Amino acid sequence: MTSEADRLTLVLVGPMAAGKTSVGRRVARRLRVPFIDTDKRVVAVHGPIPSIFDEHGEPHFRSLERAEVAAALDGSDGGVISLGGGAVTDAGTRELLRELPVVFLTVTPEAVADRIRSGGRPLLAGEDPVGRWTQIFEERRGWYDEVASVTFDTSRRPMQRIADDIVTWRRELG
Ligand code: S3P
Repeated sequence: MTSEADRLTLVLVGPMAAGKTSVGRRVARRLRVPFIDTDKRVVAVHGPIPSIFDEHGEPHFRSLERAEVAAALDGSDGGVISLGGGAVTDAGTRELLRELPVVFLTVTPEAVADRIRSGGRPLLAGEDPVGRWTQIFEERRGWYDEVASVTFDTSRRPMQRIADDIVTWRRELG
């Protein structure tokens, strides 16, 4: 680990398919710190997200998610931590993010349409996934703004360029 890695933490939030994982991975690589995707941690321990929603409901998923966010932030090495799109709906998770450098990734409904075709997101199952995505984003926007230190839009620029801008921003924070 570099000395930068010893102290560097950065959290990514934003709606489904905003690019949190692909941007986060690139930012972590450039900063040479670990990358943690809390959804992946939940899946590794508890199985696929659609099954968790089906069998135990969304509130249960939120508590598993909160526990993984807390565990990721407890790691003393720092790192880039990417959260699932709905993590900010949980008051306990929002509290964990207070006073941390939090990047809010936004994206337009037009740009998101292609990205959400792959499925696997229970909240977008059924007809009109883009309409549903838009509605959910609007419902949550206030929570994203509440936790965010800075906002970047991922609709039109390559993920690597966005990652580079985030790295610059984070380094300026010190
Ligand atoms: C969710 C977003 C998903 C995943 C779960 C619920 C949400 O993560 O956590 O399907 O409520 O917005 P991504 O934002 O990575 O798609």
